[in-house]
Amino acid sequence: MTASVKLTGRDLVAIDDYSADELRAVLARSGELKASMRRGERRAEAAGKTLAMIFEKPSLRTRVTFEVGMLQLGGHAIYLAPQDIQLGTRESVPDAARNLSRWVNGIMARTFAHRTVQELAEHASVPVINGLSDWEHPCQAIADLLTIQEHFGRLEGLKLTWVGDGNNVLHSLLLGGAKLGMSLVAATPAGYEPDAKVVARARELGGAGAVTLTHDPRGAVAGADVIYTDVWVSMGQEAERAERLRAFAGFQVDTALVRAAGPKVKVMHCLPAHRGEEIAADVLEGPSSIVLDQAENRLHAQKGLLAMIL
Ligand code: CP
Ligand code: NVA
Repeated sequence: MTASVKLTGRDLVAIDDYSADELRAVLARSGELKASMRRGERRAEAAGKTLAMIFEKPSLRTRVTFEVGMLQLGGHAIYLAPQDIQLGTRESVPDAARNLSRWVNGIMARTFAHRTVQELAEHASVPVINGLSDWEHPCQAIADLLTIQEHFGRLEGLKLTWVGDGNNVLHSLLLGGAKLGMSLVAATPAGYEPDAKVVARARELGGAGAVTLTHDPRGAVAGADVIYTDVWVSMGQEAERAERLRAFAGFQVDTALVRAAGPKVKVMHCLPAHRGEEIAADVLEGPSSIVLDQAENRLHAQKGLLAMIL
């Protein structure tokens, strides 16, 4: 089934851009490239190709994994820092998209407004990948699905409980997870739920029972296969820090919460983590944590994606 999926030239602006079969095909390709790397094989899927990487926000994982991924596929990546392009001020988004399209084979962009990635995709003639916007983080979700699949041998029927902020990372996980048959529970403080349109779409994809919203983290983790958390203050929300720290009190993923889920639960975090805020240090470093597998899989998942779309 997945072998026949062709994604050449396709954007990845939002995870819902891809069908379940297309997502499965990317996961399969990622797994193949990971195994190939372990065998020490040289790859050439992106030979002679260049990826432009536009960053309006900081990054460790996204920058390094895209850059290394392109190199390992025989291609090249160019890092464009916020001050280089000054999207929307020095140069309009459509102009940047049209210029880059004349030189490079793909564009990856990490932006504040989701609209900026959409606009890049509308005006570029090469594929555009969302490397995180305020609305979604689809590359993270694909890497996370790969990680969960590796640890559990499947995705379908697994329960993932999100504890914390209803943010961009959760949006992509809800949509991607529901599409691939997972059941998702989001425990957030009141007022910090994921967007209602995203929840409605995830329920449309996975069935009404695919997504449960609650304000009770302890009840939410019962029977969970995975507990997932992320920072309480996302990039761009720094001014809300004090207010958010107050709102999220009681939502830390600590040892007691992990115990309430049972001994087999895996703990995930997209990183960077703030120890002592959304996650206790001993949980992040503890035996349930698979955060470094997730971080590693950013590389393999994005290589799978790049190999298919460039
Ligand atoms: N998880 C993630 O996207 O990390 P960076 O912000 O370091 O890229
Ligand atoms: N929600 C976080 C994810 C960082 C990878 C943010 O947007 O800052």
